[in-house]
Amino acid sequence: MRLNRVRAFLGACALGLGLAAVVPAGPAAAAAPRHTIAFDQYSMIIDGQRTYVWSGEMHPFRLPSPALWRDVLQKMKAIGFNTVSVYFDWGYHSPAQGVYDFTGVRDMDQLLDIADEVGLYVIARPGPYINAETDGGGFPGWLTTQAGRARSDAADYLAATDEWQSAIDAIIARHQLSNGTGSVILYQIENELAATGTAQRNYLQHLRDKARADGIQVPIFHNDRGRNGYWVPASSTVPGTVPGPVDLYAFDGYPGGSCHTDGSVGSPSNAPDWGIQGAGGAKGGASASNTTPGFAAEFGGGWFDYWGSVGTYPCTAVREGPGYERVFYGTNIANRLTIQNIYMVSGGTSWGWLPAPVVYSSYDYGAAIDEGRQLRPKAQTLKTLGYFVQSVAPLTKVDKGADVAASSPAVRIEHTVNADTGTNFYLAVHNPSSATTDDSFTFPITTADGSYTVPLRLTGQDAKTLVADYDLEGNHLVYSTSEIETHLPGVALLHGRDGEAGETVLRYPAEPAVRFLAGSGESAYDPATGDLRLTYTHHGLIKIQITAPDGPALTLLIADEDTAAQFWRVDDLLVRGPELVRTAKVRGGRLALTGDTKAAAPLEIWGAPAVHRVTWNDRPVAVRPAVGGSLVAVRDLAGARQITLPELTTWRYAAESPEATPGFDDSGWRTADQTVTNSTTKPPAGQVVLTADDYGFHHGDVWYRGHFDGAAPTTASVTWGGGGAGLMQAWLDGTYLGQKVLPNAVATPPTRATDTFAIPPELQVTGSHVLSIMVRNNGHNEDGGVNDAHKEGRGVIGATFDGVVPSSVTWRIQGAAGVDPVRGPLNNGGLYGERNGWSLPGFKDRSWSTRSLPDNSAISGTAWYRTTFGLKIPADIDASLGLTIGDPAVPHNARHYRVLIFVNGWNMGQYIADVGPQHTFALPTGVLNPRGRNTIALAVTSDGGEANALETVHLTTLGVARR
Ligand code: GAL
Repeated sequence: MRLNRVRAFLGACALGLGLAAVVPAGPAAAAAPRHTIAFDQYSMIIDGQRTYVWSGEMHPFRLPSPALWRDVLQKMKAIGFNTVSVYFDWGYHSPAQGVYDFTGVRDMDQLLDIADEVGLYVIARPGPYINAETDGGGFPGWLTTQAGRARSDAADYLAATDEWQSAIDAIIARHQLSNGTGSVILYQIENELAATGTAQRNYLQHLRDKARADGIQVPIFHNDRGRNGYWVPASSTVPGTVPGPVDLYAFDGYPGGSCHTDGSVGSPSNAPDWGIQGAGGAKGGASASNTTPGFAAEFGGGWFDYWGSVGTYPCTAVREGPGYERVFYGTNIANRLTIQNIYMVSGGTSWGWLPAPVVYSSYDYGAAIDEGRQLRPKAQTLKTLGYFVQSVAPLTKVDKGADVAASSPAVRIEHTVNADTGTNFYLAVHNPSSATTDDSFTFPITTADGSYTVPLRLTGQDAKTLVADYDLEGNHLVYSTSEIETHLPGVALLHGRDGEAGETVLRYPAEPAVRFLAGSGESAYDPATGDLRLTYTHHGLIKIQITAPDGPALTLLIADEDTAAQFWRVDDLLVRGPELVRTAKVRGGRLALTGDTKAAAPLEIWGAPAVHRVTWNDRPVAVRPAVGGSLVAVRDLAGARQITLPELTTWRYAAESPEATPGFDDSGWRTADQTVTNSTTKPPAGQVVLTADDYGFHHGDVWYRGHFDGAAPTTASVTWGGGGAGLMQAWLDGTYLGQKVLPNAVATPPTRATDTFAIPPELQVTGSHVLSIMVRNNGHNEDGGVNDAHKEGRGVIGATFDGVVPSSVTWRIQGAAGVDPVRGPLNNGGLYGERNGWSLPGFKDRSWSTRSLPDNSAISGTAWYRTTFGLKIPADIDASLGLTIGDPAVPHNARHYRVLIFVNGWNMGQYIADVGPQHTFALPTGVLNPRGRNTIALAVTSDGGEANALETVHLTTLGVARR
């Protein structure tokens, strides 16, 4: 037996002690808080129970609607997660140094309350750096002006992170499981800090010490960018690793292969053995740390998509769909990774100016829950895996088992054993795991019950985890070639692929009565061994009632995958039929269920023998008891009614960009007078600093007006920073010079450029001139490389006009007029319309002209289109709606224009016709009023002319459910 050291976190006892006290037993236990969080090399141990932490990532900042946090978290719980992992985005809460806002959509207390109420543990990931394809990797705009190197021990940077930690830790600390007031079980410091020098070590130590000083009691970890062994706890003795101030080691992995932005699909990859099945070596053992559980802090559940792509999300959802999930997550399970966080499960929207340069507004990610909050087919496979890891407890303490050879070299068996219970687990997967051949084979199972040769089939991208020698609700399971989904007293749900043969062997001292209540199969009892062998073909639902002379009765439900998808495990109940089951409350013989239907659906309930009254969403449902111990609704539950959406026909129209005209009054604008910048992009010698962040303009559009006298130049050369697919437009003395766009559709898109405008001869006159420039800032770079990449200048970095002495140019700058107190710092930039309330619902646009769409003329610069419409979505209907611009079948076209989409004042994303690929923008309920008036304001920035005008705009249904 291996030494099984338990490290426990005992609330106050853990404070400031670094790695906390060992073993929660003894006198200390008396003073312990209500909940204990501990771990050893096998798993987390929560309140003394080994727990498989099956977690999914969602980002509250990507869903600006607290009511929908509950929707998404309930869906995550329903599809089998017991944990949600959450990044907190510093920049989302901090418009300026010293200013923090946790109100409204930024209310993280509320988020953590909801997670707790829903019954999910929380992995809290407050950065300070988070990456996450978000502006500056989560760094606030103001941090770009610091002198010290970010993600190091520079004093100014640490003072800033202290500020953020003080603010966010106070919230997280209030919600820790350890003090009985919430469900936070783990806390991450930093994110993929791949530099391991002294400055980073000091920095990490500082973050850890600060977290502990702020009252964070739960175990602290860091997520290694790959399984490199960076920042492992001091307790680990794996050679070649880098120790750090952490309690647990965790790593990130995205090995799935991806869909490419040009529409091609990479060849399938193999699932790595990142744990106990691995070849070992320097960083072998469970996840490069041999004293802590195998922990994937992020494991691919999709991938993000880039500006200029053809639109990869539908492809990714399939590529990293059911087969991928079984092969890759299954391999992780076989490798004893007992903490798995799938990134993302619900991606959401990078609304406003959240997107980092690499991504566009949709952060759908091809995840299990799509951007419109609908469950994709891959969610159903996750459900079978999630229920499994939570139902079959021996999985939380396994060691590598004896080698097992399959009859075919095309198949590999990964074997693990729980030494305490004798339970054996077999992952059957193609060899190599990327293969998709159709293989029928056998392999030997040897347990305390004896030796068996087991037939199995794998076809397509697939893997199966089989269980042998296991106590299945008081019935002894010898083995099954069906996979266990879940079980509760009296009932077990197994599943397999439609049409594939299955066999389940249970052992009884005397022959039990066996009855097929539904479906068909064979049963044979062998008195010599006591084995009851059930053989069948997976198809629909087979119900088998087994009644042993002594011992609890068991109803075996054996489902094909589509049928398995109809089951929901809610607490101690198993429910079949509806689209989704969210909650179940049993009180005094009454069962209150809540959930969703789309089509009319049957309802069957197991695990509620004492219940005689049932409600569904507060409406009574007539039920009758059925053979096999279930309750069945007499009539189907009603489905959702279809909804009709208004056409967006009439639009009010007004042109803006008055900043381009020579007479525009910019006297109230900020004069660019700084000569020193900490940006990584300095102005050319002799020029003032122009970068927008230095003047406090961090997000969205920024205007410049450069005044000079004398002869007009023949060219103007501008170095500028605009993030992903950024835009610059320029005018000289009111004449449009043109626009420049940063190239896109590459993994690391260029985020700045130097571009030259030719000045038309008729403008080359002597006099007073003004060069007006508008730069669209599509986000600050992330700082994944620890090289201050977020400090790259945005807006104009430097401008040279031939024949004009730079110091003779006076520059004035204007960005966002302020921070929207409701919608936060990332909602608005500095367009004239934004500065004057044109994006807001209350703005009076009566005097504007009217237009209909598609339009056939456009100005160079920006014009606004506004419309209002009413919605009357019934209160029991959850309609997920979107806004579609142009033809979704064409990812990008030749029209040189782009649109900022404001819905009731909320900036829900950016459409770029000639870059793409996004046409449909999710509009979360909350931002959208489902029963009232709504206002859409579109800021259309065009190159001008007929071909570059706004296309059609309409509302789209992303999903409708009845609740
Ligand atoms: C990881 C990173 C995440 C996110 C992810 C890709 O490396 O930790 O924040 O950027 O990649 O979506």
